[in-house]
Formats: sequence, structure tokens, C-alpha cells
Amino acid sequence: MSFVDTILKKRYGKALSFEEIDVFVKGVTDGSIPDYQISALLMAIVLNGMNRQEMTNLALCMADSGTYADLSFCHGIPVDKHSTGGVGDKVTPLLLPLLATFGVDSVKLSGRGLGFTGGTIDKFESIKGFNTSVPTEDFPRLINETGIVLSAQTPDLAPADKVLYALRDVTGTVDSIPLIASSIMSKKIAGGAKALVLDVTCGSGAFMKTRDRAEELAEAMCRIGKLAKIKTVAVITDMDQPLGRTCGNTLEMQEVMETLTGKGSPDVIKVVCTLAVQLIKLAKKSEKMSEKELYDECVLRLSDGRALKKFIEFLASQDGELTMNGPVYRELPHEAMRISAPCDGYIKHIQADEIGNISVKLGAGRVVKTDTIDYGAGICFYAKVGDKVKRGDVICSLCHGIERRIDDELLFDLMEEIYDCYEFSDKPVRVKDPIIKILA
Ligand code: URA
Repeated sequence: MSFVDTILKKRYGKALSFEEIDVFVKGVTDGSIPDYQISALLMAIVLNGMNRQEMTNLALCMADSGTYADLSFCHGIPVDKHSTGGVGDKVTPLLLPLLATFGVDSVKLSGRGLGFTGGTIDKFESIKGFNTSVPTEDFPRLINETGIVLSAQTPDLAPADKVLYALRDVTGTVDSIPLIASSIMSKKIAGGAKALVLDVTCGSGAFMKTRDRAEELAEAMCRIGKLAKIKTVAVITDMDQPLGRTCGNTLEMQEVMETLTGKGSPDVIKVVCTLAVQLIKLAKKSEKMSEKELYDECVLRLSDGRALKKFIEFLASQDGELTMNGPVYRELPHEAMRISAPCDGYIKHIQADEIGNISVKLGAGRVVKTDTIDYGAGICFYAKVGDKVKRGDVICSLCHGIERRIDDELLFDLMEEIYDCYEFSDKPVRVKDPIIKILA
């Protein structure tokens, strides 16, 4: 059977066998299938979908295209977390030290930001000296020291996904639940964890704009996780406005420090602690506590100095520069422009993807992979959805690195774009719960 027959089979809406998917992924990995044929099959999958078995087979074959991490050096059940991306998402730097206070080990392999969502690796790289390329032979030592490793994904982790993702990016085939689910899960399967919590973001700042799509993706990933023998829970979280009070690399790490010293934003605390509860249960480290007790304990440890102590130890273990006051940043933010409410009222909506794009234009992210980042750039939010404001109150500010200058003209253009992101109402606005649904 030639590869054209596989394309035709999917074009006519038929399910592909394990062997056909295996041949496809091997051909993607060794370069023997040309890009135009790969792209044709990707488009047929976008249009005709995949059933559960096909999605799982695709994830398993992609995981098998590279090496598997061996996490047997972890104490107990090694856990992992994945977010489908968002704006102002500083959950990972808070979740890892919180889990470590419960003796839950995590090896987190993360990516860089591209487009309007920020990347965890970029956030940590805003700290001077912090090493995000940890050799795998150092993982056991770091886990013994702190219970945490955070490193950039290596090229041998599901390499087929890298080829497919690059092609999807330029062929209009990113937005497909079977392709997203198998792409994410292939890396999680290869990453070696035995328990996984998926933060499936939903709303204007997420890939999944509606609750139905978010649920569909969450269910697909949970099914793949179970068939791959990984205990998987998905938490659907609200990303219809930026999470917390900042977006941008140094700004978000500063907000992490504020959260760990008891000054966290309620939405951030709720998301972090909800994910932590699920992972601690999956790791079987909470036998004696009810879910409510465990949640309250997470909230306490996040702010009473215990998670902070772990966080500082973890930064030091990966060579992050520290003073008595916390991390030393590569670039400090300078508040270049404060933006005021144009009217009295309640904030009704903040268009998160556009906010992410404005943050990228300030220098906080990349449009193409080779762009350099201004770690000090980003946006601070002084008022969020539901807040009552008076005309002239500062609602947010635009920042860039202290060493950098931004054209006034660009700043004024960005201010106009910010106004387009905000909607106001003269009636009180109901604030959505950041946790939409938990699926096991
Ligand atoms: N993140 C991934 O890793 N893969 C996708 O397809 C989408 C988001």
C-alpha cells in the first residue's frame, strides 16, 4: 500500500489502522515522506477527525519516535502537569514547589513561548544564571536535593511531533483536537511521569475558545492518558481574561514571589491549589485528608513560607542568582505608560489573546522562534473583570526593560489597542470561577 492510499483513506473519512499510523510517524521522523504528503494527511485529519483508537495510536507512535525518560529515581509516583497555554499563566513556578512540600517529585520538561502565550522556560530564564538545559544525568541529584527539576524539552523527546508541529503551523492544521491531543500526550508519555494533570484553558486567551471544545480536548487527552497507563485528570480553567495581575517574564516571576509571600491574586491561588490537590491525590500523598482539607492545606503552604523555601532551594539548585530578597532578574521592568479607565463602570471583559499580542509587541515574547526577548517587558493589571472603576483610575500599565527605550508612537498605538481589549458595563459584572470543570 502506498502512502497516497493512506491519505485517500482518511480523505474518505475511514479510520487508519495502527500499522498505517506507525508507517506515517516513522516516515515523518526519518524524512522519507515528503512534506506535501504529510500536509495532505494532516489536512484530511483536520477535516475528517480521528476516533479514540487512532488518536491514541498516533500519540503512542509519536512518543515512540524518540527516547523515553526514565524517572525511576523519583520517590513515589512521579507527576507531571501540562497547560494548553494562556496569558499571564504563572502556575508552574508555583505548583512545583508547593507539590515538593508534600514530598511529590516532579520533573517538568517545558517549552518556550511562541505567539500570544508565554513559555515557562522564558519565565525562568528571566532569573540571572538559572539553568534551563539540565543534563538528564543530573536529574536524580536534583530530585534528591529539592524534589524538582525544570528543563527545556530535549530534541529526542517525541521528535516526530516537532516535524508535524512545524508543518501544522504553516498549513492551517494546528486547530484540530486529534492533532493537539496526540501532540501534547506524545510528549507526556515520552516524559515518563505516571500521573498527570492537564490544565485545559478555555476562553479568549486560550487555544480552545469555547467550553465545548475545551471539554472535547480534555476528554480526548484523558482517554489517551488512560490507554497509555498514565493516571490522568484534566482541569478546565478560565482563560477569558489574563490570569493574575501581570503578563511578561520578569513581571510574572515577581508575581510568583508575591504569591509565595502571601500576596497572591485569588484566581492564581485557586488554579494552583486545585491542580495541586489533584496531583497530590494521584501521587497518593494525602491519604488522611479530605479534598477540602487538602485544598486548605495547599492554600496555607503556598503563602506561609513553606512553598517559598522550596522555591528558593530549587532556584539555587539550578544556579539561579539570589539575594536575601529573592531572585536577581536579567532585566527589571520599567513602567513606561499607565492607562486609565475611559469611563466610570465595571470591567466586563479583557480580551486575553489581544493582551498577549500587545505584550509580545512590547518585547515580552516572540513572533518567530529566533526573536530575542525583553525580559522586563509586559503588562500589569490594576483592575480585572468585575472590578468597579472610576474614569481616570489606572487599569493597567505597559512595561519594558529598564535598559531599553520604546518609541512613544508605539506606546500610544499600544494604548489604543489596550482600549480595544477592555469592555465596560454600567451594571455589576459576575466574576467567573477560574475552575470550570474537573474531568477524571
Ligand atoms: N501544544 C502542543 O504541544 N501541541 C499542540 O498541537 C498544541 C499545543
